[in-house]
Amino acid sequence: MQNDYDNYAKERQEKLINGMMPSHRFVEKPMMKSMMPNLKNKKILLLGCGTGEETNLLVTFGADKEKMVGIDISKESIAIAKKTYPNVEFVVGDMANLPFDENTFDFVYSSLAVHYSATPDKVYNEVYRVLKKDGLFLFSLVHPIRWSSNHANIDGKTYRLIGCARDDNESEVLGNYNTFKEHTHDFFSWNIKETLSFYVGSPSFHFKLLRKANFEVLDFTESMAVEETKEVDINYYKKNKELPQFMAFLTKK
Ligand SMILES: C[S@@+](CC[C@H](N)C(=O)[O-])C[C@H]1O[C@@H](n2cnc3c(N)ncnc32)[C@H](O)[C@@H]1O
Repeated sequence: MQNDYDNYAKERQEKLINGMMPSHRFVEKPMMKSMMPNLKNKKILLLGCGTGEETNLLVTFGADKEKMVGIDISKESIAIAKKTYPNVEFVVGDMANLPFDENTFDFVYSSLAVHYSATPDKVYNEVYRVLKKDGLFLFSLVHPIRWSSNHANIDGKTYRLIGCARDDNESEVLGNYNTFKEHTHDFFSWNIKETLSFYVGSPSFHFKLLRKANFEVLDFTESMAVEETKEVDINYYKKNKELPQFMAFLTKK
């Protein structure tokens, strides 16, 4: 299924700028910040950059906007990004087929975009090609513990579960943690139903693909909501403190 990131690009940008995307603010960005290298004087590629808000985050780690290039497949997101961040170069393109020469970038950053590719192996090969020697690639993905589950009804409540029945019924398995698989989910942001499809794989699935692409894996993190979340939404905090919604790899060419 083709996701339409052109729809709601403006609404998504407003929510991001105003800190109204809890998964970004309390879970994903803190994880990415904890793994970010020093970006002073680095030539940077932003992979699946959306409307470009991550350029501001990277500046806080020493990056220079004039040395950044953002790429996204959504024309509308790139048009908004160009208008909002005129010092940054943005291009429309596919992360599995990058329009850049080899050995171009010191750092490739990607937030919650690689899981939209059905062929992450191609993405990793492409990122490896455009990175300079010793260049770093930091990226985040959805975590399978959240997305590879099935719904189960227990005492009248619906739970998202991964596991198997106990005793005689151990072959009754809920979830597909070990299978790289497309998932389609309805998100209810902006009071509008937005259906998105993405591909979920286990940490070891991605680890093997990264090694196959010749990357050295330097760091791996599973997300955890930060303490600040408690004051805003205690239920969101409880869920995202104990269960990782996202995961991130830091790799080196
Ligand atoms: C969840 S958004 C993340 C945007 C931004 N990185 C952020 O964190 O705000 C995912 C982005 O990936 C982009 N995307 C999906 N498939 C892509 C592809 N094959 N090549 C480039 N970008 C893609 C979408 O258009 C969308 O802007």
